[in-house]
Amino acid sequence: MAAETRLLINIDHVATLRNARHESFPDPVAAAIECELGGADGIVFHLREDRRHINDDDVRRLREAVRSRLDFELSVHRDIVEYCCRIRPEVATLVPERREEVTTEGGLDVPAGGERLRETIHTLLEAGIEEVALFVDPDPEQIHAAAEAGANAVELHTGDFALARGEAAVAAECLRLTAAGRAAREAGLRLHAGHGLDYANYPIFRSALPDVDEVSIGFAIVARALFSGMQQAVRDMAALVKGQHSR
Ligand code: PXP
Repeated sequence: MAAETRLLINIDHVATLRNARHESFPDPVAAAIECELGGADGIVFHLREDRRHINDDDVRRLREAVRSRLDFELSVHRDIVEYCCRIRPEVATLVPERREEVTTEGGLDVPAGGERLRETIHTLLEAGIEEVALFVDPDPEQIHAAAEAGANAVELHTGDFALARGEAAVAAECLRLTAAGRAAREAGLRLHAGHGLDYANYPIFRSALPDVDEVSIGFAIVARALFSGMQQAVRDMAALVKGQHSR
């Protein structure tokens, strides 16, 4: 039987709220601890080149405080790659980054990433980071290119699935995810997924990709936490991820 899916929580939005008022709170590290107490299997953050939410000191403190898995999202920017190697998270996820975007808007174009991307993957693995994932659209061509470039995991971009409206569009996105999941397994890659997953769409996502190793969810959980508290918001999502299907 397949191992249970791990639930990793992205706490960037806690830092976004803090930075909106140039304050020292709410603290994303305190949020990460609450997530773990609520049953999270890990914590995700994106250290952006413009440091718009998480900053270098947050990363250092997260490494000290987090007892579960740490997933460091980053671009191929040299200084950030170097910092990631020093922090040695359990997972490094390479994502495309554009300054003007509100959030990560699409997957990497792996073939276009060329030698720079290949070298970055190699550097991260050489530093002892166990899993190096590429964030890609659910497209078999990108998945094969990720394996070819030396990554040992992919994170499937679920944004199109999350935005699909109407039965036919949702069914089409589910088929894309299922086919992409199969391609990742055939290429020998570990399988992660994320972006736009929430309490309503998770059961549908799960039926398309039941054997996903890891999901990365941020916005929906942080938003619910405002009303329920972080631990409860994580417990509610963990119940869906671990298959109890309660809402
Ligand atoms: N995975 C990646 C690569 C992301 O960039 C994000 C957004 O920060 C997520 C997952 C989580 O997406 P959301 O906040 O919509 O759950």
